Amino acid sequence: MQPNVAIRREHGLKAQHAAVLSTRLGLPLIDAPQAGGPVLMLEYRSGRLTLCDHRERRARPVFVDIEASIRRYSSLPAPKRGPLAQAIGKRTRSIIDATAGWGQDLGLLVAMGYRVTAVERSPVMAALLEDALSRLAVTTDVHGPFIPPRLVVADAVHYLSDLHAPPDCVYLDPMFPPKRKRSALARRRLRVLREVVGDDEDRQRLFATALLTATKRVVVKRPDDAPPIADHPDATYTGKLVRYDVYMHGYRED
Ligand SMILES: C[S@@+](CC[C@H](N)C(=O)[O-])C[C@H]1O[C@@H](n2cnc3c(N)ncnc32)[C@H](O)[C@@H]1O
Repeated sequence: MQPNVAIRREHGLKAQHAAVLSTRLGLPLIDAPQAGGPVLMLEYRSGRLTLCDHRERRARPVFVDIEASIRRYSSLPAPKRGPLAQAIGKRTRSIIDATAGWGQDLGLLVAMGYRVTAVERSPVMAALLEDALSRLAVTTDVHGPFIPPRLVVADAVHYLSDLHAPPDCVYLDPMFPPKRKRSALARRRLRVLREVVGDDEDRQRLFATALLTATKRVVVKRPDDAPPIADHPDATYTGKLVRYDVYMHGYRED
């Protein structure tokens, strides 16, 4: 699917970046949104690559902010507390976050000290992630060491199928229907994401591949009121508005 996205032509420092991105992603390079043209624009703001929805009256750009997740902690690695850490499990060291998206879960996993590979198949989302990772690489105001995550731009079904060194855990957060009680920023992120990537209709296939790949477990994030991706998870940890279902190595779908 070719998303409804263009790239804003830049002047000065980011001019070349924008031109390279346009060629790489095969998206038009334009000066400003045009009637009948793409309404979402990748554009550099304050040195960050952002995605801006120009249908909004005061368009507020959204961007991947892994630094923010890491900076939340006064020391690193962050304590492995809470439902996400419980779902990931005490013995997990390496994780493939197979649905990286806005990188929010990625940031939490990196802050907790896991070795994470992030996989994203949407070239637009991958460009936003890549930009965030390059900013993270030069970040100095975080409180302790962390393992920089690796980004792979691919369909995770193919990537996982071809892996030689499987991870302890595969983490999945496929698209799901919007929830009511989200913050304005979370709603904007979700709406824009849905427009860029659509619905992850092949999520069952990804889940089946993840089960064959992870050496210890597969963790699936779901809205708290949504059915599990597969019946009878081995464990479930409930957080605010979301739930983490855990499928241990050897789990078999009926
Ligand atoms: C709901 S978002 C994930 C949000 C993310 N967990 C976060 O914290 O920001 C789902 C993302 O997974 C990506 N995705 C879905 N299926 C995928 C697949 N098979 N391979 C790679 N990326 C996939 C989508 O393109 C989308 O960006």
